[in-house]
Amino acid sequence: MCGIVGYVGNKEAQRILLSGLRRLEYRGYDSAGIITAGRNGETLLREKGKVAELDKKVAESEHNDIIGIGHTRWATHGEPSERNAHPHHVGDIYLVHNGIIENYQDLKEVLADRGYEFASETDTEVFTALIDSIYQAQDKKDLHQAVVDSLQMVIGAYGIAVMAKGNLDEIVVARKGSPLVVGVGEEEVFIASDPSALVGHTDQVVYLRDDEVATCSKDGVHLTDATATKVDTVVEKLELDIQAIQKKGYDHFLLKEIFEQPETLRSTLNGRVLKEQDLLRLGGLNMTDDELREVKNVFIIGCGTAYYAGMLASYFIEQFTDDVVIHNAIASELRYRSFNVPENSVALFVSQSGETADTLACLQEMKRRGVKCLGIVNAVGSSIAREVDGGVYVHVGAEISVASTKAFTSQAVAMLLFGLVIAQAKGMSLKELRPYIAELDILPDEIQSTLNSQNEPIKTLAKKYAHYEHALYVGRDSLFPVALEGALKLKEISYIQSEGYAAGELKHGPIALIDDKFFEMAFVSDNWLYEKTMSNIIEMKARGGHIITVTNSEKAIGTEEVVRVDTKLELLAPLIFNVASQLFAYYVAVERGNDVDQPRNLAKSVTVE
Ligand code: F6R
Repeated sequence: MCGIVGYVGNKEAQRILLSGLRRLEYRGYDSAGIITAGRNGETLLREKGKVAELDKKVAESEHNDIIGIGHTRWATHGEPSERNAHPHHVGDIYLVHNGIIENYQDLKEVLADRGYEFASETDTEVFTALIDSIYQAQDKKDLHQAVVDSLQMVIGAYGIAVMAKGNLDEIVVARKGSPLVVGVGEEEVFIASDPSALVGHTDQVVYLRDDEVATCSKDGVHLTDATATKVDTVVEKLELDIQAIQKKGYDHFLLKEIFEQPETLRSTLNGRVLKEQDLLRLGGLNMTDDELREVKNVFIIGCGTAYYAGMLASYFIEQFTDDVVIHNAIASELRYRSFNVPENSVALFVSQSGETADTLACLQEMKRRGVKCLGIVNAVGSSIAREVDGGVYVHVGAEISVASTKAFTSQAVAMLLFGLVIAQAKGMSLKELRPYIAELDILPDEIQSTLNSQNEPIKTLAKKYAHYEHALYVGRDSLFPVALEGALKLKEISYIQSEGYAAGELKHGPIALIDDKFFEMAFVSDNWLYEKTMSNIIEMKARGGHIITVTNSEKAIGTEEVVRVDTKLELLAPLIFNVASQLFAYYVAVERGNDVDQPRNLAKSVTVE
């Protein structure tokens, strides 16, 4: 959460920092700020609201500065306000911080005794004062050492960038549990909490690991561990281009990302599903066939949309395995439960960002217990990707819109591939495998034709339902996770209160909600559960429900509206229903005039628990 940027070099720091913050704004947009320095001293500018507000302030106070750090905030301690915005400034120190310092109250008391006064309610200001108190006590000013010493005293998570008054040469950065990457250019260095801010500046990057501290200067990056002992710097090539982080003519990133799904899915499948050879290959699992054969339990762990993708994948995998038990778990719950892990378990950690704090905490716990841990991750080089024993990158490219869409589709498919690889190792025959390969092969085209045929009708439909304030989403079997995901998508971008339910559960409570303020979205598959789900629809209709049915059946339905999705898929049909549901949520949110890509109160990667 929150975005950090930094720059030291010979160019205009203010403009570079602002453009970096605009790219990172999806990580938090409660307030923003920058501190830059040059021959005329330091300029600190902060503003409540989005980066555009800060931009206006910078325009009034432009400086030709050559070093600086900046931040866009998702509030944890203290309301969104200019006073609580970063960078924080105490004494000689300026600091931007992602994460939470848990012992900040204790530190605040100690620092107050030493005469420090605090202008904000934030843990970050206390952290700034702590570094300043150490810095002031040094005979010879050494910012790197002051940061190292301060880190011995803080408990919590951080990604930080620090500058000192009068020091035009260095920015010191450090991380523990919150990502930071340093881009190295010609006599210049860029700092960011997410590599998308570096695109167009340099493709040479150094990913900081936990407990590392780096001094960044025009000469490059000087890296140490938490005891100030030198660590080798590994420079990697950043595989992200400018196209991937632009809207490419779409009104919103969300719509672009929905429409990218055929292509991003092909990237997920590329080199993994070899139709000609009837072969599935997952290179990064780091598991032998013997190990795969042994698997009896699969834990699938994630949060939000990633959790629902895991749930959907478990319905898929259960179709073709008879000795594998799947345990779906919400990471923020599992980490505080005293759960048992049976023998022969593997754990999958599903995360677009690869940084979700709760998912990461579960990973660390599973590793502590000696469980084989695999990532289903999008962000290459992210914390989860680095800590797992192996896994499957979903390769959907940058997902900028806060609401996750293309990642969901590819996560579910990547986990299906994992299930098939286990089944193959356990003896699934080619004859049994082929129908799944055939479905995977046509899935991207089927998504494309759904997008082509449904975009306009769903846009019109959304206009009709955008004024409702409540919604119920229902489905059975593998359409139940689609109902949950559909309700989540609608609520987070349209702010319509929407709940997902298993259709068979309606009579156990939710049906009492139905009245004229509600509409209902029912997903109905033309399979052995068709009649059962139709009975639920009829029950809702009898109680005055305003029902939209999404179905691949050609039979007469008789609800207020019907969305017909035309698909030859069986196992994977839910992914087609889900695309229709994504379009619906998008157009409802647009119709309501909402900020679709940056919904209120949210942020893209959730690095606080
Ligand atoms: C919803 C959404 C969130 C994320 C969740 C996990 O549209 O985006 O529910 O799915 O915060 O994030 P990752 O996948 O980055 O771990």
